[in-house]
Amino acid sequence: MSSTDHNTSGEVSTAEFFSKQAAMYEKSVGGATRDIAQKLISVSPPFTSSSKILDNATGTGIMLEEIQKHISSTDSSSTLKLPVVAADVAPAMIDCLNAKLKQVQSTNSWPNLGPVTTHAVPAEQLDESIVPDNSITHAYMNFGLFFCNDALQAASHIHRALSAGGTAHITSWNHIGYLAPIQQTHRELYPDGREVKMPFSEDWLHPSYNHELLVKAGFKQENVKVDQTETFMRHTSLQVSAAILTGMFTPLIKGPQGWESEEAKTVFTKKLAENLGACKDFIDESAQGKGVGTRMIANVAVCTK
Ligand SMILES: C[S@@+](CC[C@H](N)C(=O)[O-])C[C@H]1O[C@@H](n2cnc3c(N)ncnc32)[C@H](O)[C@@H]1O
Repeated sequence: MSSTDHNTSGEVSTAEFFSKQAAMYEKSVGGATRDIAQKLISVSPPFTSSSKILDNATGTGIMLEEIQKHISSTDSSSTLKLPVVAADVAPAMIDCLNAKLKQVQSTNSWPNLGPVTTHAVPAEQLDESIVPDNSITHAYMNFGLFFCNDALQAASHIHRALSAGGTAHITSWNHIGYLAPIQQTHRELYPDGREVKMPFSEDWLHPSYNHELLVKAGFKQENVKVDQTETFMRHTSLQVSAAILTGMFTPLIKGPQGWESEEAKTVFTKKLAENLGACKDFIDESAQGKGVGTRMIANVAVCTK
């Protein structure tokens, strides 16, 4: 099912925004979502032979990759074979995941996951024809719920799909270290322009908002726990970071029409590198071989049905 008409902002739809990013997605996020995926697995209930996984807003399947790594690293001879439903609104993300699946199948490098069924469908429409009621033991939605037009409906489907005792792991951003330098750069270069905003409500930054929404979706108050955890978006250099952010945020900086010229884009990238390098959330660990990083903080919700 195609969801390119699933428009959130009235300008650039979420599906279009992420479809454009799909090929570069993993490089762009610089390990930040992968790091949080690993943290989610570390607080997940153990995987057993009756586990069934849902990865909502799967993107290129980083969460699944990390689940496979976790199973292999804790028991290299594990005979687990866990069924997975993976879904995302952006068809190009699902294309990337399908390409990855084809490759891992040919090398048998995801021996503990399967069958993996993939769906290009918004989380709001993840109904019982795709995920039956009470069928999932481990649900994940790593940095996806806050992009949904109707987050309550999406979260309600997660609750519906979980079996009794099943656990959902849902993350949002609490602090986005690169946003202030992007906004500052935009203000300096385009003082009459509209402020650059993330394509989701700022309500999501607050842990209590996440908590309340998940309770409204059906989880008991006492079964929802929201914590914060820090991570870094890492790239090889400040210039690479600035170029990636400029590319990634072009639709939010300049709208669907994009840059007026290649020169305007270059000027923005250069200025962004100055502002990013000077901001409090930026770290340079190139001397230690770790490149540069921008600090981010995630809200991590773990909910039991
Ligand atoms: C920041 S990425 C996270 C991807 C992946 N979970 C990860 O950990 O890297 C956000 C993902 O949410 C997806 N998304 C946005 N709105 C969605 C919706 N309504 N339903 C399902 N997926 C959605 C995007 O297409 C994108 O792949």
